[in-house]
Amino acid sequence: MIVVHDKAILVVGAEGSGKTFLSSKLSAKGVNAIDTDSVSGLSKWIDMKGNKVRFPVRPSQKWFKTHKFCIDEKKLRVLIKKRPVVVFALSHNIPEITEMFDEIYYLKVSIKTLDKRLRKRDGKAYSGIRQLEYVKKLDTVAKKKGFTILNGASEPEVLLSVITRHVNMESNITISEAKRSDSYGVTDLYYELYPKRQKGGIAKVGTPLLKSKTFVAREGNKVVGFLLATFTSYGKSRYGYIEELVVTKKARGKNIGSKLVKEALAWENELGAEVVHVTTDDAQGFYKKIGFRNSTENSWFLWTPKNP
Ligand SMILES: CC(C)(COP(=O)(O)OP(=O)(O)OC[C@H]1O[C@@H](n2cnc3c(N)ncnc32)[C@H](O)[C@@H]1OP(=O)(O)O)[C@@H](O)C(=O)NCCC(=O)NCCS
Repeated sequence: MIVVHDKAILVVGAEGSGKTFLSSKLSAKGVNAIDTDSVSGLSKWIDMKGNKVRFPVRPSQKWFKTHKFCIDEKKLRVLIKKRPVVVFALSHNIPEITEMFDEIYYLKVSIKTLDKRLRKRDGKAYSGIRQLEYVKKLDTVAKKKGFTILNGASEPEVLLSVITRHVNMESNITISEAKRSDSYGVTDLYYELYPKRQKGGIAKVGTPLLKSKTFVAREGNKVVGFLLATFTSYGKSRYGYIEELVVTKKARGKNIGSKLVKEALAWENELGAEVVHVTTDDAQGFYKKIGFRNSTENSWFLWTPKNP
């Protein structure tokens, strides 16, 4: 198979064919995907004379017959410079923009299914498929132009693997600090990691809450024990960690260790920790006595800058 690194792929489909959903799925996978409807200023409505017009509040079927929705070709050309790119679009000037793309797919969905999906999406506001005439024409355009026809009712993952089969994803992988806009992608991954957890809430990747606190035990003026605890929350998991705990040998056996842990757990609890972890070999009995139990979930691995 020839893998081309800089392909521009176009996916055409009617409103309700799943373009926005597929585009967001691809973005979450790190692919440069563009849903043309969500790029402001990229498309415009024009009348029969070619003049730009405002989209009416309640457009009638007649209005749709006398107006066209067109993508600005110049702007699109600039937008797809960064390759590989997958563009999801529906516009009356599809035939004019096809030459910019290396591969073109038509996401074919029956009128009946579109109707069902849009009814569900728009609820009471739904008044029928808006550009019905054009949706019907799309089939002819796709056949005439030789677009690869995809069954839009297939599973999203199947569709995506076909659409991107010639895209070398590797070439598009970058590692960077998460931005606020990555929250949805991170949330999806969270449920991939914990499929059984109840859904709700969005990961706050731009603003994770990380706290730490050091507790000390004093005998007179002398510090005889310390505990370092951390707390992490990113809108999904909220958990604590006992990083360090030590009581000086001479002071052991006087409940100092237990008191330090108790204070730390109260602090974690106040912050909303759902679980507090600790790893230990020598003090397993100590932690069991004060209410910790063996985790069935983790076994720990470690890394050091120099091996072994
Ligand atoms: C583990 C440590 C902090 C405990 O401190 P401490 O002040 O002696 O503990 P406490 O007096 O509060 O002990 C509470 C109970 O745990 C028991 N216990 C304490 N250390 C224990 C150990 N290592 N193994 C098994 N039981 C232990 C105590 O006997 C006591 O039991 P009791 O209530 O029946 O009397 C201390 O031994 C220490 O600093 N150890 C070396 C460092 C270490 O292992 N830190 C933990 C790393 S996460």
